[in-house]
Amino acid sequence: MKNILITGGAGFIGSNYVRYALEAHPDWHVFVLDKLTYAGNLDNLLDVAEKFKGRYAFAQGDIADREVVFDLIRRYRIDTIVNFAAESHVDRSILDPDAFIMTDVYGTYVLLEAAREFQIERFHQVSTDEVYGDIPQGYSQEGDPLEPNSPYAASKASAELLIRAYRMTYNLPVTVTRGSNTFGPYQYPEKLLPLFITNAIDDLPLPLYGDGMQVRDWLHVVDHARGIDVVLTQGAVGETYNVGGENERHNIDVIRMMLAILGKPESLIKRVADRPGHDRRYALDTHKLRALGWAPRTDFEAALRETVAWYVNNEWWWRKIKSGEFKEFYRRQYAERLAQAI
Ligand code: NAD
Ligand code: TYD
Repeated sequence: MKNILITGGAGFIGSNYVRYALEAHPDWHVFVLDKLTYAGNLDNLLDVAEKFKGRYAFAQGDIADREVVFDLIRRYRIDTIVNFAAESHVDRSILDPDAFIMTDVYGTYVLLEAAREFQIERFHQVSTDEVYGDIPQGYSQEGDPLEPNSPYAASKASAELLIRAYRMTYNLPVTVTRGSNTFGPYQYPEKLLPLFITNAIDDLPLPLYGDGMQVRDWLHVVDHARGIDVVLTQGAVGETYNVGGENERHNIDVIRMMLAILGKPESLIKRVADRPGHDRRYALDTHKLRALGWAPRTDFEAALRETVAWYVNNEWWWRKIKSGEFKEFYRRQYAERLAQAI
């Protein structure tokens, strides 16, 4: 592997992975293709563009645009594709599923076609634990059925089925990782932690869905990036690997811990109408990835402290986001919920 195409590299996990990969592999050239949707942000890569000038390049474009993708792969002699590009927020997929089908499903199909045409050495798909659906007890293993419950989860599961078909039909060298709920710097402030941290800094209400007893398995973004890298460099072709933080927590407990770190009152928490189809619990069995030598390294409370400090110290990054497109989304998603909050 020498010339890596990282799609969605201007998003949250993608930009953290770009940084990680350039540090970890001094012989890699990294090309980022990103549409720069509302969630894509070149601010996430400012330091990278500066530090790795000769080994990093960026192109704005859509993974669903066949001409753009084929041209880039031909021109830069791409040998590896790592696909982060996606519409990634469950609530937006409930409001407007269209872009999820176009990017997460059709876009993945275009990338697979390009991988086939140019005989790419490896196609890696960044997927999610949400493809398993709700797991009331036990831990999801890689062979478990896919039972997605939101349009987002269904679009990611659909992409995985296409990838499987390209493996079986065309012998395409694919790997997949299914990551759990990821947190850390540069996460768009629509997801639970960055939304609640930035709202709490401004003493705004924190709209908690339902009873707050849903369980998520929190994974630090650098542990996630390392998991993807281990699978890309050591994983078996055709295989899927769970990447979980081994850190299951109720939403309400995570929010209480965050408020204690910030020194803000729990009275900011407002119980609002639940998300339709809301999965109560995700939990991953990570034995398969552990067998490759990976393990999460982050202590949750320390990492949460660091993450809170990052948002406190980087208002320049999130204030402009929250004053832009975000405002209209926030109104659609929360205005009525907050008006009826308990
Ligand atoms: P994000 O929303 O922060 O970033 C997505 C990026 O993809 C953005 O830069 C956006 O501009 C780009 N993009 C969107 N549509 C595109 C298109 N058509 N063509 C090119 N670029 C496009 O998302 P994230 O949280 O960083 O997630 C990255 C990947 O990881 C996604 O595939 C997501 O499904 C997966 N994932 C996320 C989590 C999580 O907790 N955030 C957990 C597991 C898996
Ligand atoms: P989210 O960050 O959207 O990730 P996902 O839906 O992919 O797990 O949400 C994490 C959890 O937090 C989930 O159970 C929904 C809940 N949540 C709220 O209670 N309020 C909110 O405003 C948001 C965005 C999420």
